[in-house]
Amino acid sequence: MDNKLLIAPSMLSANFGNMKADIECINRSEADWLHLDVMDGVFVPNISFGFPVMKYMAQISEKPLDVHLMIVQPEKFIREVKDLGAMMMNVHYEACTHLHRVVQQIKDAGMKAGVTLNPATPVSLLADIIGEVDMVLLMSVNPGFGGQKFIPHTLNKIKELRQLIEQTGSSALIEVDGGVNLETGKLLAEAGADVLVAGNAIFKAPDMADMIHQLKCLKK
Ligand code: DX5
Ligand code: ZN
Repeated sequence: MDNKLLIAPSMLSANFGNMKADIECINRSEADWLHLDVMDGVFVPNISFGFPVMKYMAQISEKPLDVHLMIVQPEKFIREVKDLGAMMMNVHYEACTHLHRVVQQIKDAGMKAGVTLNPATPVSLLADIIGEVDMVLLMSVNPGFGGQKFIPHTLNKIKELRQLIEQTGSSALIEVDGGVNLETGKLLAEAGADVLVAGNAIFKAPDMADMIHQLKCLKK
């Protein structure tokens, strides 16, 4: 892949009163993916949006969908996520008793498989699955809400994960989600992140497309 950072705006921070305008703006921008955060009020202490709303988002989006399921038993919804036309389905390590099976099922459905780690879950736990996954999503906040403060220990986890990827010959991308802005994004790019998710930094910016451009240019 080329060396540029991939940018995935998180719809959680979009204006739900005019989602169409926000997604069309993302379509015209240099964003690479559209990040959709699904919350069930059980795995995380918040509820976001579900499939009827995501279907509408999918109809408008021209960017590949990066779906982040913050729900228990995400394997129950592989078919629904596939039917959205999603490119990537991210499930939490902490939510899957049989993670290996879930990853296979996601890939068998024709999507890329991402495994997400909460801030307190060590990278070393991925040793026996890293060869199977297309992406690891490192949470740099405790999932559940947009606009939280970046947890700096994530930078050490990126370095550790990069080492694991290189040692095992895995081709997994490293995505980071939570508290990403121009300042933390620069540190993340230097540490070796491939994909940055950003909610508030993009949707609350005076010029969304310009913010996306600036984030994209953090890695030369
Ligand atoms: C948090 C979500 C994030 C969130 C990021 O639980 O997974 O994708 O929208 O929002 P910001 O970038 O505002 O921290
Ligand atoms: Zn997310």
